[in-house]
Amino acid sequence: MTPDTAWLGQSFHCEGWRDEMALRIASFDWSGTAMGPIDRWSKSLRAAVKLMLASPAPLVMLWGRPGTMIYNDAYADFAGGRHPFLLGKPVEEGWSEIAAFNRHVVDTCLSGATLSYADKRLTLHRNGQPEDVWMDLHYSPVAEDDGHPAGVLAIVLETTGKVLAEQRRDAAERAFREANERLQLALSSGIVLGTWVWDPTSGRISGDERFVKTLGLQGGIDASWPFEALAERLHPEDAERVLASMNKALYSAEGRHEIELRVRGPQGQYRWALSSGRCEFDAADRPLRLPGVLVDIHERKIAEDKLLRLTQTLEERVAEAVTARVEAEERLRQVQKLEAIGNLTGGVAHDFNNVLQIISANLQLIELATRDKPDLTRRLHVMSEAVARGGKLASQMLAFARRQPLNPAVVNPAKLIADMCEFLQRALPESIKLTTSVANEAWNLFVDRHQLENALLNLVINSRDAIHGGGNIWLEVANASFADGHANGLALPAGDYVRLAVIDDGAGMPGSVKARMFEPFYSTKAEGQGTGLGLSMVFGFVSQSAGCVDVQTQVGEGTTVALYFPRCRQAETANEDGARPRASRGGEVVLVVEDDDDVRLSTIDMLAQLGYKVLSAQDADSALEVLQMNHDIDLLFSDVVMPGTIRANELAKIASAPPYRATVVFASGYTRDIIFHEGRLDEGVVLLKKPFTFDDLARTVRHALDARR
Ligand SMILES: Nc1ncnc2c1ncn2[C@@H]1O[C@H](COP(=O)(O)OP(=O)(O)OP(=O)(O)O)[C@@H](O)[C@H]1O
Ligand SMILES: [Mg+2]
Repeated sequence: MTPDTAWLGQSFHCEGWRDEMALRIASFDWSGTAMGPIDRWSKSLRAAVKLMLASPAPLVMLWGRPGTMIYNDAYADFAGGRHPFLLGKPVEEGWSEIAAFNRHVVDTCLSGATLSYADKRLTLHRNGQPEDVWMDLHYSPVAEDDGHPAGVLAIVLETTGKVLAEQRRDAAERAFREANERLQLALSSGIVLGTWVWDPTSGRISGDERFVKTLGLQGGIDASWPFEALAERLHPEDAERVLASMNKALYSAEGRHEIELRVRGPQGQYRWALSSGRCEFDAADRPLRLPGVLVDIHERKIAEDKLLRLTQTLEERVAEAVTARVEAEERLRQVQKLEAIGNLTGGVAHDFNNVLQIISANLQLIELATRDKPDLTRRLHVMSEAVARGGKLASQMLAFARRQPLNPAVVNPAKLIADMCEFLQRALPESIKLTTSVANEAWNLFVDRHQLENALLNLVINSRDAIHGGGNIWLEVANASFADGHANGLALPAGDYVRLAVIDDGAGMPGSVKARMFEPFYSTKAEGQGTGLGLSMVFGFVSQSAGCVDVQTQVGEGTTVALYFPRCRQAETANEDGARPRASRGGEVVLVVEDDDDVRLSTIDMLAQLGYKVLSAQDADSALEVLQMNHDIDLLFSDVVMPGTIRANELAKIASAPPYRATVVFASGYTRDIIFHEGRLDEGVVLLKKPFTFDDLARTVRHALDARR
């Protein structure tokens, strides 16, 4: 027997009473539920169901303690995939994912209370997967015929769409607020030079306070200006570009404007700025306005420019560095080569000197013994001259080897040049003009004056030889200060120097000659015209004087040879060069110490001829013995380099100290550190250069003995 559902049968034009849910409810078997068979439903329940079905709002009734679910068409829509499964189900089974929530609802309302939630968020599985749903929920009890609460009526209004929209709006508002904050920060950071708006219709531009101030425009923020008024404040090269960029923005799809420009400041100086904006269009794509901002990019632009220049010159600088390195290596090779040749030359010169000394001494002794034979005397004289030439050669070689004894003094270069000028002029033919120029207040030098004169003479003669026909030679003196030891390219330590330069407009030197010019005996001159020792000597002397030589030369243009000497801060001392003591005969006791037998014998002979009482020893050890036995020795005449355990300077120290108090004269053709410090004679040490003449020996010994008194 089908249940009696006539009470649901007639719709009376109410759609809810004949739609899907009315049919489903009528045909559903309710007998197994808390509601019991439909034909036994109470009046109240029937009324409530009809009320619910008629409502356009989603309504659901939860009946009895299990909360058996019965709902209308609108709720069926809300339930999605869960419908029609929900119909007749206890609510905790129907919506198992929110069972606890519904249990509370049913219990609360069955006790007579109501519940209301606005935008209640629940996670439902309406279509197979979890989904956040927001709802306005209103629960109220439904009475049975006897009046007690038997069910719960729920109005379920889904608000998910509204909530999500609100969330989106909130997020948008937050984003807007943040963007606005950032904009305000940027505007107040000083990077922004102002904001502006261009009205394409009127062609006028207005701007904020900063913009007006940056461009130094007249008028307030309400004012506007034609572009020409702005153009006057921009760099002349930029104005046209800026206008073109703004115009382009009006007709491009994106409407973007961006350009770097220079704005003139109040003092006329320009600053780099970036102008950028985006055109706004109306519905018909007509340009409405172009708002923009002016940003300070000066520092960045300057840094970029610098970087650009840096990269552009990088290649050049690498090439320069490589060249400098190659040159430095070449210089080093050159120095090493000269050093090696110097050692060799110095050694040869030493032996050569000793040989000359023997010849010279014996020649002079023969000369003394044969005064009455004029024929022989003449020949002896020729031989003496040859020995003297050889001696000069040896001393030039020693000069190159930086082993010549120097006798430095304070020299005023201005005076030196003035003194030399006439003499130099005489060495030059009339076709060559010598011009000297000495800087005001040229600093003093501390050098061997004689050697410096010699060096300058050598340079002038080299220039003379390089000038064919007529030409010029300039002699220049100037001060030179180097702050950075390497910047000068001369391998000189930083400091103050005096530069003496001999410049000519002669033939100049090709690279092959320049590379070898300092080598001793290197000469391009015809046989007998040059020994090739000139520049060698100059090089040795200048190096030994803590200076350096710089040669710049160009074939066909000329040559500059510059000598740099360290500045001396002392005033020039009186010229002591004056009268030399003349040789005179003495009766004093002289001890000669010399390891070379021939040299020793000839020296003894000469001293004896001069009237001295002569003792001798062949090394320092035996000299010390002689010294100890003869306390009356007045003068020790000693070679510098000798075999034995005692060195010459140690012997000299003993001899000059009490009780002997002898005067010391060294004889040497080749000097090492023992009597020199940095190439200079120790204070009070007398040196006689080998080979010496009879006269040199007489004068030196006499002078040393006289100075003792
Ligand atoms: N001012 C100069 N112009 C052109 N070439 C020069 C100049 N000075 C030197 N030279 C070249 O350097 C070479 C060596 O010079 P250096 O003075 O050492 O020897 P020299 O002049 O040939 O001989 P010496 O100086 O011993 O008489 C010269 O032969 C010449 O080729
Ligand atoms: Mg020369």
